[in-house]
Amino acid sequence: MAEKLYESYGYVGTEKPRAYYIPFAGKEEWSDNREDSSAFTSLCGKWKISAYDSFAAAESDLDREPTTDIDVPSCVQYYGLDFFQYTNVDYPIPFDPPHVPCKNPTYHYQRYFNAKKAEKQYMIFEGVDSCFYLYVNDRFVGFSQISHRVSEFDVTEYIKDGENKVDVLVLKWCAGTYFEDQDKWRFTGIFREVYLLSRPEKHVTDYKIETSQSGDVTFKLLEGCDAAISFLGEEKTVKEGEIVVFHVENPRLWSAETPYLYDLDIKTEGEFIREKVGIREISIENGCYLINGKPVKLRGVNRHDFHPTKGAAVSIDDIITDLTLMKHLNVNAIRTSHYPSCPEFFRLCDKYGFYVLDEADLESHGCSSSFPGRREGYLSDLPEYEQAMVERQVMLVTRDKNRPCVIMWSMGNECGWGKNFYACSHYIKSQDKTRPVHYERVTVKVVDPKTGECTPRFPDYATAPVDVVSRMYASPEFMRDCFLNDKEETRPFVQCEYSHAMGNGPGDLKDYWDVIYSSDRFMGGFVWEWADHGVLYNSKGFRYGGDFGETLHNGEFCIDGIVSPDRKIKTGTLEMKKAYEPVKMELSDGNLVVTSRNYFADIVCAVEITYKDCDSDKTSETSTIALQPGKSVTVPLSRKDVRYIGVKLRTVSDESLVEKGYVFASQAFTKDVDMREKLTPCDVVMSKVGPDINVRAGDINYLVDGVNGEIRSVAKNGKNIFKDKITLCVYRAVIDNDRFIKASWKEQRLGLCIQDAYSVTVTAPDEITVDGKVASEKNTPVVKFTLCYKFFTEGVKTSIKYVYMPLRENSFLPRIGLKTVLDKEYDKIKFYGYGPQESYIDKRFACEKDVFETTTEQSFVHYIRPQENGSHYGTNFAEISNDENTVRLQNSDGFSFCASPYSIETIDATAHDDELPVSDATYLNADYFMSGIGSNSCGPALDTRYRVPDKGEAEIEILIK
Ligand code: GAL
Ligand code: MG
Repeated sequence: MAEKLYESYGYVGTEKPRAYYIPFAGKEEWSDNREDSSAFTSLCGKWKISAYDSFAAAESDLDREPTTDIDVPSCVQYYGLDFFQYTNVDYPIPFDPPHVPCKNPTYHYQRYFNAKKAEKQYMIFEGVDSCFYLYVNDRFVGFSQISHRVSEFDVTEYIKDGENKVDVLVLKWCAGTYFEDQDKWRFTGIFREVYLLSRPEKHVTDYKIETSQSGDVTFKLLEGCDAAISFLGEEKTVKEGEIVVFHVENPRLWSAETPYLYDLDIKTEGEFIREKVGIREISIENGCYLINGKPVKLRGVNRHDFHPTKGAAVSIDDIITDLTLMKHLNVNAIRTSHYPSCPEFFRLCDKYGFYVLDEADLESHGCSSSFPGRREGYLSDLPEYEQAMVERQVMLVTRDKNRPCVIMWSMGNECGWGKNFYACSHYIKSQDKTRPVHYERVTVKVVDPKTGECTPRFPDYATAPVDVVSRMYASPEFMRDCFLNDKEETRPFVQCEYSHAMGNGPGDLKDYWDVIYSSDRFMGGFVWEWADHGVLYNSKGFRYGGDFGETLHNGEFCIDGIVSPDRKIKTGTLEMKKAYEPVKMELSDGNLVVTSRNYFADIVCAVEITYKDCDSDKTSETSTIALQPGKSVTVPLSRKDVRYIGVKLRTVSDESLVEKGYVFASQAFTKDVDMREKLTPCDVVMSKVGPDINVRAGDINYLVDGVNGEIRSVAKNGKNIFKDKITLCVYRAVIDNDRFIKASWKEQRLGLCIQDAYSVTVTAPDEITVDGKVASEKNTPVVKFTLCYKFFTEGVKTSIKYVYMPLRENSFLPRIGLKTVLDKEYDKIKFYGYGPQESYIDKRFACEKDVFETTTEQSFVHYIRPQENGSHYGTNFAEISNDENTVRLQNSDGFSFCASPYSIETIDATAHDDELPVSDATYLNADYFMSGIGSNSCGPALDTRYRVPDKGEAEIEILIK
């Protein structure tokens, strides 16, 4: 074929898109598993493949049988047939739409299969990246594109009885590539299922089901032969173009909380289709988004198709794994970022109860960086691309229109804004009036940092054909101050992405949810994103962009999931689970008040309460409560005035994906107790050793550097405790959320700054005062401080008073505290602070303040790209011990500490977790202040409340036992 179909936006031989369903031969045959249908023949499994470097080369070689084995579905990159490449915004090919490079990796797939001729036969491909040519028994059948659409080909005249052959040429790039510039690994291949469907000549093709909260179920036969529709025992016949309506008195409404599905059977001669109907209604009233009349909250995540060893080729079991874990984490909503998931996904969401924001396979983000002028909305404004963009809406809405879980359509992601979206929205609205239309870019407002004024980015902000205001990464303040205060605004607000979960983070979930719960105008949001896209391929650990020799890539920016690539829980995951709890727990008048945040389903659960005062005084009690939606129940507490009241809510029966006994919500009400050990004043003997000062207090000996004021060594009974000096530290191994601020830290050379003193003075018989600075070459000092050491029998009390002197406005310190090094054998940790997992000032809401025991190994958090981790906020005391001695840190106001097997420098210098060396010591940080985490890797700057204050005073006592 001379014509370069792959540089067009057309198709050849594909059936008109239709609602997705799988017919069965009859009611008796019907099962929940489509593979049980006699109409269905899977073509998944073993295929053969050959790789070519251009379509022309592959096509001219089509007669040659491929020889390499490949499993379908899969991505060719995992078979060594192409390189891995991760890019976020940038196009992986030269920007020259609709042309693609002629060196275009092309894959010849082939397999044989047995078939029996039927009246009608269709071959269905659920997803091929990026486009493909189909041949059956050596005859060309057709061509399709749009990676995440379902392509259906009528192969009736190509199939014969007995053995058949199918050949597919899959191209890595095509014209569609310009509209599939999603932030992901650029995978290639037949990555979703392929099957053959045998049908009678006369059959139903397409239909639409609509429901209302009042119990109307409307079935419209859009295309196909006459059919008998039965619903709750009532049967009605319908002809093409006709509508039949059923009515259910007191319907059991579908929601994510109550995913009740009714059977609607479509019968024709020789076929039986069972639709699972969820009766529900979506509306927007008074600026609020309502499901069944209730202003539900979407506790969402953005989900990509990704698996560390399979790439985009996720199986149904993988999807169930995700949904199961999501239910355990109190997630009730999923945005299918940034393309429709496979059809089975929606069936599962209907069944298990998830609200789905279904997004078209459309993103042209690369226009923002591709050419002079860099206009993000470039393609979206060119009339010649209108049809191509509308087609992507067609594939979305036509296929998924009957799924109750779909509660809103999203026209795509990051295509800027342009006229073509009017056509896109018009199309959707012409097909479906039951769901709102979403698209983020046009509802962006820009905030003037000086005046705080919010101005729309596009003039059609208010008139654009979208039904909700959507933003990504808008700050909680924006939501509160800018959105809610806009008197003209009549739409509800959703964060289609927020709390960018990259690396150590996110640190702002609670703040977002405090705002989201404050008004019914807020629909909730979708955390970016569900899972880290870390690839496991010929490596010990997870790999990210740049690890495969790609020259164009976005590094670790794909490691931004709230769960790990292999779906392990992280500390950030727990913060999300906490923010997404379907209950609120408070203490009132000495009782526990549990309030349901549900709208539809009762919550029946066991309430397990544990009381602790001191270690030996621990009691617990359990009761069962039943909470009606939105209602509260008061649970009396048998003990009131104790240090710790921990509440756990457990499921009392197996729920669809969550087992009996699972703790879905927990809250500890704690009273701060001062567990500091007493410091006893004692006779202190100070003597000069050269410029330095030797201090003897009790059986501890200190050597204080007389020049820079560092504590050079500490010995107890003559035995050296630390491997290194105790000195001030103002730097942390940068976390991904330090992405922007780190430039300022680098400029100030925080990692290289050292403690220096103007004077080191004995200010009392038991006290030395250091007036000094923390500084590095080139710059003015970063910090000026007064640090006072006061010596006691048990140890030394350090008190600091400091001022930070940033080089630039708006900078802040990562930390200010003391650091030192201990032998590796100091690996046992006991502390009273926020734990047991790592905690920071803004990332601790899933923690409890209690006494915990751990080890340096256990408390080290293995981020895929190593970074600051394992700190504990609000600590009252921390003990780090080997088998003989204990270093105890304590203060009354709470400090942060971290005892890590690795130094800041090692962590900073290591690119992958599995490349960390064997630990050689315990690196101890005791921070007067430690900055929070936030989500600034893509979200707003760290809130000023969570930054190390620009000046401050604090104490930390160091005891040696
Ligand atoms: C958003 C985008 C996502 C992802 C994220 C950063 O702008 O929609 O696809 O790129 O940023 O991780
Ligand atoms: Mg993007």
